[in-house]
Amino acid sequence: MKFIETLSTLRETRQQWRQAQLRVAFVPTMGNLHDGHIELVRQARQRADVVIVSIFVNPMQFGANEDLDAYPRTLDADKAKLHAEGVEALFFPAASDIYPRGLNEQTFVEVPGISELWCGASRPGHFRGVATIVCKLFNMVQPDVACFGEKDFQQLQVIRTMVEDLSLPIEIVGIPTRRQADGLALSSRNGYLSEAERKQATQIYATMNAMRDALCNRIASQATIINQAVSQLEDAGFKRDYVAVCNARTLQPAKDSDTDLVILIAAFMGKTRLIDNLHFSR
Ligand code: PAF
Repeated sequence: MKFIETLSTLRETRQQWRQAQLRVAFVPTMGNLHDGHIELVRQARQRADVVIVSIFVNPMQFGANEDLDAYPRTLDADKAKLHAEGVEALFFPAASDIYPRGLNEQTFVEVPGISELWCGASRPGHFRGVATIVCKLFNMVQPDVACFGEKDFQQLQVIRTMVEDLSLPIEIVGIPTRRQADGLALSSRNGYLSEAERKQATQIYATMNAMRDALCNRIASQATIINQAVSQLEDAGFKRDYVAVCNARTLQPAKDSDTDLVILIAAFMGKTRLIDNLHFSR
C-alpha cells in the first residue's frame, strides 16, 4: 500500500493509474477505522480496479464547542487494517496542505436547504465543512466512484446534491449501515459509551423499527408516533436532539402521500451524541 502524504505524489499516482486506464474507487474517512469503514473499502473494491482511502480529520466540519483535538487518531492501526484489505493507496494529507491559508480564508462549498436541516441545525456549519472537504478531496483524488456509509444519511444526501449541482463526474454509492448483533450501528462514537450506556444505546434501533411498523400500518398520526418514540428514547436514558420522519430524497418532514421515507434520529446518551436512520418504503 502506497502511503501518500503530499498532493504532488497523489497527482503522480493518479496520473499513472489514468495511463494504465484503471478505474479508481475512493473512500474518504477521518480514520479510527471500524468494520463499517472496512465494508466501504470492500464495496469500493467491487466497483473499481484500485482503491484509495483518505484519512483526514477535517477541522472545518467541527463546531467551536466540539472537541477536534479529542477525536481519536489511530494511524498505525488504520494502516494495518487497510493493508490487510489490499488497499492500493492511503492519502494522509496535513491540515496545512489542505487549508494553506487557514479556515477563515478558505473558499467553501455549501449545499443550500438540505444542509440546514436536522444535523445541520444542531451543528451549524458542519455540512459546509463536509461539502468543502469532500469537494476538495474529489478534485485531488479524481475518483471514478466514491463510497459513503448510509449511516450518515444526511451527509450522503448533501454529497449527492453537491455532485449533481456541480456536475462532478463521480458515481456516488451509498453503502448500508453495518450493525452489531443487537442493532447498534457501528460508529467511532460508540467507543465513548460506558458499558451501561452501550446496553441502552440499542434502544435507538428498536425505536426506529417500532416507528417504521407504526408508520407503515398507519396506526396513529405521524406526530403521535414521533412523540411515542421520543418517550421511548427518554425512558432508555437518551436526551433527544431530533426524531424525524422525512421524505428520503428531500429530508423534509414526510407528507402522508410520501412513500420513500427515512426515520432520522440524533440523541445524546450521556455526553455522546449518536445518530442513526432507517430508510424504507410504505
Ligand atoms: O463521514 C466522514 O468520516 C466525514 O464526514 C468525511 C466524509 C470523511 C468528510 O470529512
